[in-house]
Amino acid sequence: MIELRRIEKNYRRGAEDVRALRGVDLSVEKEELLAITGPSGAGKTTLLHILGCLDQPTQGEVLIDGINASRLPEAELVKLRRDKIGFVFQQFYLIPGLSVFDNIALPLLFSKKPATPEKITHLAEMVGLEHRLDHVPSQLSGGEMQRTAIARGLVNEPEILLADEPTGNLDSENSEKIFEILRSLRHNGLTIVMITHNPDLSARANRILHIRDGLVHTES
Ligand SMILES: Nc1ncnc2c1ncn2[C@@H]1O[C@H](COP(=O)(O)OP(=O)(O)O)[C@@H](O)[C@H]1O
Ligand SMILES: [Mg+2]
Repeated sequence: MIELRRIEKNYRRGAEDVRALRGVDLSVEKEELLAITGPSGAGKTTLLHILGCLDQPTQGEVLIDGINASRLPEAELVKLRRDKIGFVFQQFYLIPGLSVFDNIALPLLFSKKPATPEKITHLAEMVGLEHRLDHVPSQLSGGEMQRTAIARGLVNEPEILLADEPTGNLDSENSEKIFEILRSLRHNGLTIVMITHNPDLSARANRILHIRDGLVHTES
């Protein structure tokens, strides 16, 4: 589903070059739940952004579903990202003035697909929020906010869901719920890559990738 070949990423910080990724090879299978762990600054977020075509590598190739994303023009890349990839972040990035319904439906505005009540209600049910559709984010718990963000990440029916510390702002009970929701989504054909510092969660992924100093340190 996803293949990375010899990925390097350098950032420029003032006069110095930061080597955030130093040659990462990775294959992610369809319907796999892959956990990425590693210390702060190891390159996890950089790797996730490159996996999701949010950022281009300095060197190396990214293949999404057989398509070489490294060679696509920007307009094609925007389409690939929109059609195949969903994102969930640690900070939920919900729009405060919009209801749960409208927050979930928001990406459809950009893909110009219809936001039918059936579709949004179905997604809300998948994450257990069907009773909250009229609420605004300030009326939700942290766990409910993240569940809204997951439903929003799924609204364009992506094949890949990328999550950067999705439970990083949640207590253990809500972390557990979010993880189980993510895990259950694999059965709908979704491939999931999740960065997490929580060993209880990563232990239950299909595979753990430990990143250190911009390299894959161990796999288990
Ligand atoms: N936009 C950027 N500009 C410069 N340096 C960056 C940028 N993004 C990340 N870095 C650096 O790249 C390294 C890896 O960062 P990151 O991928 O965010 O690590 P992690 O998610 O594992 O904490 C760090 O040294 C970080 O400071
Ligand atoms: Mg990070």
